[in-house]
Amino acid sequence: MIKIAVTGACGRMGGLIIENILKSDELQLVCAIDITNIGKDIGEVNGFGKLDVLVADANNIASALEKSKPDVLIDFTIATASVKNVVESAKHKVNLVVGTTGFTQEQRSIMESAIIENGVSAVISPNYSIGVNVFWGLLAEAAKRLGDYDIEIIEAHHNKKKDAPSGTAVKAAQVISETLGGKEYVYGREGLAPRGKEIGIHAVRGGDIVGDHTVLFAGDGERIEIKHQAHSRQAFAKGAVKAAKWVAGVKSGIYEMRDVLGIE
Ligand SMILES: NC(=O)c1ccc[n+]([C@@H]2O[C@H](COP(=O)([O-])OP(=O)(O)OC[C@H]3O[C@@H](n4cnc5c(N)ncnc54)[C@H](O)[C@@H]3O)[C@@H](O)[C@H]2O)c1
Repeated sequence: MIKIAVTGACGRMGGLIIENILKSDELQLVCAIDITNIGKDIGEVNGFGKLDVLVADANNIASALEKSKPDVLIDFTIATASVKNVVESAKHKVNLVVGTTGFTQEQRSIMESAIIENGVSAVISPNYSIGVNVFWGLLAEAAKRLGDYDIEIIEAHHNKKKDAPSGTAVKAAQVISETLGGKEYVYGREGLAPRGKEIGIHAVRGGDIVGDHTVLFAGDGERIEIKHQAHSRQAFAKGAVKAAKWVAGVKSGIYEMRDVLGIE
């Protein structure tokens, strides 16, 4: 059995990830960490019935990891919390699946150093769905052929999402920019804002939208839109659990979800 800890265990993603861990014959939930519901049974918090795993306080993550000795920690929290959780887990030789989004370059570097210095393995991805990982590949392909078209990225998410633009949209922009040898980004437009050769990035927030991403390649007389829509967070939760099984068995290093899926 692969022993799993979950940070953000009481959150939208944490609850679904635990549901998928419970369905797996290969995984065992040994630790649930959050900053709310401390001391309560995580199964009861998430409506699955008693699991005999009590929510541990994120402020004492070191002691929670020492007691439960997980093989892998899955983190879906917020960027500031995630950096701390990743550093502590790496120090305790716990492998990682990081789903949190909205990291600064500096936060990303702190996490990467801790992972490398402690010789653990980690999958870090702003999107664990299979569809989005294929979508990023399609964008690279389109950009290769339509590099001189105007490119706009439009993403839409629920009204509780904290970071903008989404990690998935940022990654989409990076994929296109790398393919085209470097592009500037313009976030939204207001006032006098004539279009240059940039990638435009736009974030829409409303209701319970799980996650829509559209990339528009517009030329003279035509346009192509490449679009991904998530219908349910299960697409991300299942991918994250798949990544947890995979990361427990690979040599140390930093990986992306496409490595887990074997996408070139
Ligand atoms: N990579 C992906 O596929 C993917 C998919 C969906 C969401 N996300 C990202 O995952 C993150 C969480 O999303 P969500 O919708 O579940 O949010 P949420 O607000 O429902 O859950 C976050 C949970 O983290 C907890 N938390 C806060 N600080 C903590 C800490 N220091 N240690 C432990 N837990 C802490 C909160 O109390 C909450 O229970 C966001 O960054 C979101 O963008 C990624």
